[in-house]
Amino acid sequence: MEATRRAPVTLRRLAEMKDAGEPIVCVTAYDHPSARAAERAGVDVVLVGDSGAQVVLGHSSTVEVTTDEMLVLARAVRRGIQTPFVVCDVPFGSTEVSDEQAVATALRFVKEGGADAVKLEGGVPARLSRIRAVVAAGIPVVGHVGLTPQTAVALGGLRAQGRTAESAARVVREALAVQDAGACALVIEAVPAEVVAVVLPELRIPVIGIGAGAADGQVLVQHDLLGITEGKAAAFVKRYAALGDAMVAGVRAYADEVRSGAFPGPEHGYRASVEAVEAARSALGAPDAPSAPA
Ligand code: KIV
Repeated sequence: MEATRRAPVTLRRLAEMKDAGEPIVCVTAYDHPSARAAERAGVDVVLVGDSGAQVVLGHSSTVEVTTDEMLVLARAVRRGIQTPFVVCDVPFGSTEVSDEQAVATALRFVKEGGADAVKLEGGVPARLSRIRAVVAAGIPVVGHVGLTPQTAVALGGLRAQGRTAESAARVVREALAVQDAGACALVIEAVPAEVVAVVLPELRIPVIGIGAGAADGQVLVQHDLLGITEGKAAAFVKRYAALGDAMVAGVRAYADEVRSGAFPGPEHGYRASVEAVEAARSALGAPDAPSAPA
C-alpha cells in the first residue's frame, strides 16, 4: 500500500522522532527507480551511499568512486524524492586533503546533487576538522563511525569494530567527538549492540544503526534488502524480497520467447490502414521519390 502524502522530512522532524522514540527508517538509493521505491514506501531518510560504487557501478570497493560519478547518482535520486531527507556520501579522496577541499566537495553535493546533508566517514582529528568546516559552511553533516568502508584497509578489512576493549573505546570516543564537532546525525556500522547501548544515551543526535543493534533508526542497502545484490550478504542484512532471481527469470523468459518467435505477438505492435500498406508497397518502386540532383 502506498504511503499517504507526508510533509518533507527535516532535521527538526528527525530530532522529534528521536525524542519520541519513533524509529527512523533509512534506506539507500542510487537511481530514479530506487528513489521512487523509497519515496513510495514512506521511508524517512534516503542515503545516496557510496556503496553505490559496488552495488550499481560495479567497482570493487567504495574507494574507487569519484565525486562526478556520485553526483550523477545523487541527481537521479533527488529527481525522484519529495518527502525523505536526502543524505549523500562524499567519496574517498574528496575531503581528505584539507578543510577547504571538504567544503568545496560538500557544496557540490548540495548545489549540483540536491543533498539535504552530506555524510563524512570517520572520527579521527582530521575528520573532525572536516566536519566542523562543512558545518560552519552551513551544510548539515551526518557522521559515520564503527566500520568505515572508505578506510577499511586501515581497519584491517571490512570487519566489525568495537569487539575488543581498545576498539570499543575508540568507537565510543569517536561517536562523541563527531557529535561535538557538530554532526546532525550519526551512522554506526557493524558494532556490537552492547557497545552501542553504552554510548547511545550520551548521543543527543539521531543515531542510525547498521549491524549495530537497537538505535534511533536503521539503514540498509536497498539492493541488499530486496535481494538484488549477488553473493553472500553481510550478517546484518535481512532480505525482504528476491528481486535478483525475479529479474533473471524475467529476462530469461523474454530471451526464450524471442528465440522461439513467441515474442513479439500482434498485440505488441501497431495497426496500419490498407492505404498505408499500399503506399508502402508502391514506395518500393519509389514513383514519387524526388529525383537526385544532376
Ligand atoms: O554507503 C552506504 O551505503 C553506507 C551505509 C551502509 C551506511 O554508508
